[in-house]
Amino acid sequence: MADRTCLAIVLAAGEGTRMRSLQPKVLHRLGGKSLVAHALGSVAAANAVAVVVGPGQEAVATEARGLRPQADICVQAERRGTAHAVLAAEPAIVRGYDDLLVVFADTPFLTHATLDRLCRSLGNGTAVAVLGFRATDPTGYGRLIVDGKRLLAIREERDANTSERAIKLCNSGAMAFDGRLALDILREIDDRNSKQEFYLTDAVAIARAKGLEAATVETEEDEVRGINTRAQLAEAEGVLQQRLRAAAMEGGATLVAPDTVFLSADTKLGRDVTVEPYVVFGAGVSVDDGAVIHSFSHIEGAHIGKGASVGPYARLRPGARLGAKSRVGNFVEVKEATIEAGAKANHLAYIGDAHVGENANVGAGTITCNYDGVGKHRTEIGKDAFIGSNSALVAPVAIGEGAYIGSGSVITRDVPAGALAVGRGRQVVKEGWAARLNAKKQAGKKRAHASD
Ligand code: UD1
Ligand code: CA
Repeated sequence: MADRTCLAIVLAAGEGTRMRSLQPKVLHRLGGKSLVAHALGSVAAANAVAVVVGPGQEAVATEARGLRPQADICVQAERRGTAHAVLAAEPAIVRGYDDLLVVFADTPFLTHATLDRLCRSLGNGTAVAVLGFRATDPTGYGRLIVDGKRLLAIREERDANTSERAIKLCNSGAMAFDGRLALDILREIDDRNSKQEFYLTDAVAIARAKGLEAATVETEEDEVRGINTRAQLAEAEGVLQQRLRAAAMEGGATLVAPDTVFLSADTKLGRDVTVEPYVVFGAGVSVDDGAVIHSFSHIEGAHIGKGASVGPYARLRPGARLGAKSRVGNFVEVKEATIEAGAKANHLAYIGDAHVGENANVGAGTITCNYDGVGKHRTEIGKDAFIGSNSALVAPVAIGEGAYIGSGSVITRDVPAGALAVGRGRQVVKEGWAARLNAKKQAGKKRAHASD
């Protein structure tokens, strides 16, 4: 696609009724990323993109715009077939591109390399190219009728005869057109078929009738896997996870039990990162070299610095930034907070909307009270500060560098650098008090037995 201009049209107007979902099918996620985002990713190299959505699918349009702000969003007012959907993007097509690439938004695994190969098979009289595959079970797919390398026609299953149905070479749905000829071909497609739809696949026979050629490019079935049901979505997730794990290990991370680690499409693991069993990575996580993620941790929207240690049972939420060699231990939750290099929160803490300075120590049971029921407030913990166990830091509040907070304190006012702050009831000791109480109780018991 590099040397030629390409317009990619992503068909996303599907109803997705088999998902039985309240949201459009193409917004369902795979590896933490929507199906339409995967499709947009596979056509990222195209010079321009048009996304065809159904009426009222504002959410799909918003998702697409967020990922590709320049994309044309075209609404297909009525669902009248794949060719009709492509023509909804006519205003983009008429701008003129060398190649026109059509992909379905529910086919998330298409690679850039394959689509490039598809576009490169155009030219020299070849006006249409179709991405085909050998289906294990061809039921439901359009069959490719070929003569050697030449593609003669695509027959939709409902319109195919018995011998055509026996063909295993199927249409994946991805097609490329010579951009200069596409509109002439597309406009000739009619709806005279059993479904009374405008079939994009008819473009092959029409091109040939015009004396042009059509070609097929083959790929693996796995790459053109389409998502129609939740079961297929789960199956695709399994395939994607295997790939992400393999890529993480290829990149130098150790996954002790890969099958138990769930990654997102954008998870970045550095070299010599160790991920113990049962760790979940949501979207937006990067982990620098040598960090260790212990078991049962849940991490999203977080950056983990070099050699840091996380978990077991840690929860890092969006905006968590852990410095080099910092430690976030068991049952510690971090949200929108930076833990600088060498700082530690080893057990049972909540650190939200906070900044923890270098080498500070946050004791077990420390809570940053960041929410007052209306707004969120920040807690600043200075470098080398020591927060005694079971302290509540009521934000907004700042603990100075090297300051010391006595255990069990409720801190509501700023603490200067180097100071000690203790905010708790003073301990009272009454000598012999418990012994006297005990003696009284024993005496009472003896009297009760005596009167039995
Ligand atoms: C289509 C192909 C078939 C191919 C199969 C691969 C046609 C006529 N048939 O069949 O050869 O083997 O995909 O999965 O192209 N869409 C719209 N607007 C419409 C109709 C469809 O946007 O009016 C979109 C759908 O959202 C979907 C895609 O086009 O993403 C395919 O439509 P679908 O009706 O599922 O086509 P199939 O019958 O599966
Ligand atoms: Ca389909």
